[in-house]
Amino acid sequence: MRIICVAAIAASLSIGLTACGQDDPIAAPPVPLAADADGAAVYQARCASCHGEDLRGTDMGPSQLSIVYEPGHHGDESYRSAIRNGARQHHWGFGNMPPVADITDDQIERVIVYIRAQQEALGFDR
Ligand code: HEC
Repeated sequence: MRIICVAAIAASLSIGLTACGQDDPIAAPPVPLAADADGAAVYQARCASCHGEDLRGTDMGPSQLSIVYEPGHHGDESYRSAIRNGARQHHWGFGNMPPVADITDDQIERVIVYIRAQQEALGFDR
């Protein structure tokens, strides 16, 4: 049953949710992520739970479209650092950002490119 359930999760990656019988003991396994996942997929799997599927934030983390995240204020290096090391609460009241687990250097570079492209396309909130 457990193996079937894990397979169902892998198969439903794009949906993100799967029904695994309530008595199934598997508790929220990490969202599977292919090594060659593109930036959008990395974002959805590793960032969206806090920063929002649409980048506009949740009650767990700030919008990535806030003007404080424009490249001149938070350059790519601060993205790398936040992802690898986490970030102490300092701009908002959401608490600390924990280091992002289970992400490769290549995935980090791709997710930064994705976020920058979204910021460019959607514009920053003022
Ligand atoms: C568990 C929730 C959570 C996850 C997952 C998360 N973040 Fe964050 N992130 C936060 C919070 C909360 C802050 C705000 C910290 C503060 O007060 O400035 C933050 C801040 C940031 C910052 C600013 C860091 C700084 O130096 O000010 C960046 C950049 C960032 N997140 C990018 C990402 C990216 C990219 C991902 C996915 C790879 C991600 N975050 C995943 C919660 C999260």
